[in-house]
Amino acid sequence: MIQHNGDVMQKQETAQLFSSLHKTFMTYLGRFSDQNNTFSAPIKLKIAHTLRVVREIRILAEHCNSGFIHPEIAECAALLHDIGRFQQYASFGTYDDRTSIDHAALGTVIIDQFNMLSQYPEAQQNLIRTAIIHHNHAFVPKNLQPDAHTLTHMLRDADKLDIWKLTIDQDMNKPVDTRISPENLERLRTFRKIPYAEVETKADARMFRISWIFDVHFMQTIQTILSRGYIGQMFSKLPRTKQLQEVQETIENLLQYRLKEHSLQPNNELQQSSLESGLSD
Ligand SMILES: [Fe+2]
Repeated sequence: MIQHNGDVMQKQETAQLFSSLHKTFMTYLGRFSDQNNTFSAPIKLKIAHTLRVVREIRILAEHCNSGFIHPEIAECAALLHDIGRFQQYASFGTYDDRTSIDHAALGTVIIDQFNMLSQYPEAQQNLIRTAIIHHNHAFVPKNLQPDAHTLTHMLRDADKLDIWKLTIDQDMNKPVDTRISPENLERLRTFRKIPYAEVETKADARMFRISWIFDVHFMQTIQTILSRGYIGQMFSKLPRTKQLQEVQETIENLLQYRLKEHSLQPNNELQQSSLESGLSD
């Protein structure tokens, strides 16, 4: 039994709620299938992404919060985090928030419209909504409650882990793009996140996603980035200039350093990365 925000929820109860939410999610998706009950490729892509983010967040929740957030609550946030994507694509034919709508905000409207969280205690509903609302924003507000802060960062890390994998796979047979913006290169070199609004070319988009590394929150995420070799794979689709090679090396060394420093901590309970405060503005 875990005390959480004044609500006591049994582990079994949260597992049952998640399973029922999963059914609600699948039923909702039915609205986006065609007469033959099949989904278009872009919709399939987001469904698969969502289910992988559920798996990623489970791992983070089990490793990083010592019971602070129920793993099932974390999974629930992951399952619904992109619920706005389906209507976004149906209405606008794009997943680009800049030219359509903030899919996270749309998602929370849909969650309420279809009462997707109504079986959860109010505190959990608010927690999940907060994490979803902030999952795609450039910055997380500093004044969130500790549990909302943790869940929001968990969702953002889990989402990034899968988007990195997805785009690395998609880029596998694509050529290197040399259209590097000097401003974005400078941002990467000085460990700053690249704003989405500054993305114009394929190379910018690749550098934009590399710069998410400066926004990673959990040590477990850093470990996963390094063990899966994401950095090398992402840099391999940028030109092999001396400058970019140096940037890659520095980022890899910094991540290794953070990991090593963490493993040397006498109190191994330090679970959160200070990467964001140590490397980014
Ligand atoms: Fe999203």
